Amino acid sequence: MGGVTVGDPSAGSDVSRETTRGQSTSPDVSRETKDERSDDDTPIATAAATAVRVMGRFGDTLPRPVRRRLITVANQKGGVGKTTTAVNIAAAMAMRGLRVLVVDLDPQGNASTALGVDHHSEIPSVYDLLVEGKTLGDVAVPVTEISGLWCVPATIDLAGAEIELVSLVARESRLQRALADAASLADGGIDYILIDCPPSLGLLTVNALVAAEEVLIPIQCEYYALEGLGQLLRNIELVKSHLNPGLHVSTILLTMYDARTRLASQVADDVREHFGETVLRTVIPRSVRVSEAPSYGQTVMTYDPASPGALCYLDAAREIAARGAGDTVAGSAQEGESW
Ligand SMILES: Nc1ncnc2c1ncn2[C@@H]1O[C@H](COP(=O)(O)OP(=O)(O)O)[C@@H](O)[C@H]1O
Ligand SMILES: [Mg+2]
Repeated sequence: MGGVTVGDPSAGSDVSRETTRGQSTSPDVSRETKDERSDDDTPIATAAATAVRVMGRFGDTLPRPVRRRLITVANQKGGVGKTTTAVNIAAAMAMRGLRVLVVDLDPQGNASTALGVDHHSEIPSVYDLLVEGKTLGDVAVPVTEISGLWCVPATIDLAGAEIELVSLVARESRLQRALADAASLADGGIDYILIDCPPSLGLLTVNALVAAEEVLIPIQCEYYALEGLGQLLRNIELVKSHLNPGLHVSTILLTMYDARTRLASQVADDVREHFGETVLRTVIPRSVRVSEAPSYGQTVMTYDPASPGALCYLDAAREIAARGAGDTVAGSAQEGESW
């Protein structure tokens, strides 16, 4: 796999270079957060230009995986981009023809918000799936804006689940059991299930690690990025050795990369040195569009599909899908068990 210099202002993606063509080529990533559409002076011209750019990238479809892939997005640090990564990778995949389910496993319900899915306390949610024994069909809802995408929302009820789960039978594997009938959700089955974890290593995250075969760890390109990672990796090893032998860290994604800072490229280099090809070549730039999207109940993939953040998430989704289409998963030390 050809390495990409992370310090490159294109932030590991030829896409961001493409989107900035015709603009200043100075290595100043702040341009990524500017409104790219400023060249187009009318709303119609803006829409047309966006459509042309996006159609070129969304026209084709991503390959379906050999078998359904369950990916847990985990990092016990808050604010590293777990939710943003889960919803945007899921949206990018669904917009390119795959059938994807997002399981919101954080009581804050940020993934539900970002997907525009209602999650007030009366809504059937992941809590009912874990604690009340409801089925996936009872709680999963289609995401209105994006066909092929479903979400199991999280409500505030989930905050109590860490404690309620303790006394329940098979407390670590309740999510795994509940997701077993994912095939019934869509005609032809679900290709990907992405589980958005809370910022902790409690029973909810353990349920996610038992349910999935792969872990995707988003790492924010900042000073404390690697702190706490050892603990996460130890927990993954524990779950692997006791509960889920097929579990492995398949993917690491560098997020909120700011090419103006030397620190970001140092962190990225360190992460690549440690984790090699597990790290996606695509790096997600820090971008205002990405952070604005949830306040409109949207992912950046629909909020501003031509923005660098959206295009990079699309590239990341493409890399993940390409790894799943072949018979080897880069960076995984062992072959997974079949499910
Ligand atoms: N690439 C990005 N550029 C700018 N802001 C981002 C980016 N990724 C995430 N954010 C913002 O950072 C905050 C934390 O991200 P989030 O995905 O919620 O992290 P986590 O789920 O790990 O707590 C959110 O406000 C989100 O909008
Ligand atoms: Mg989150």
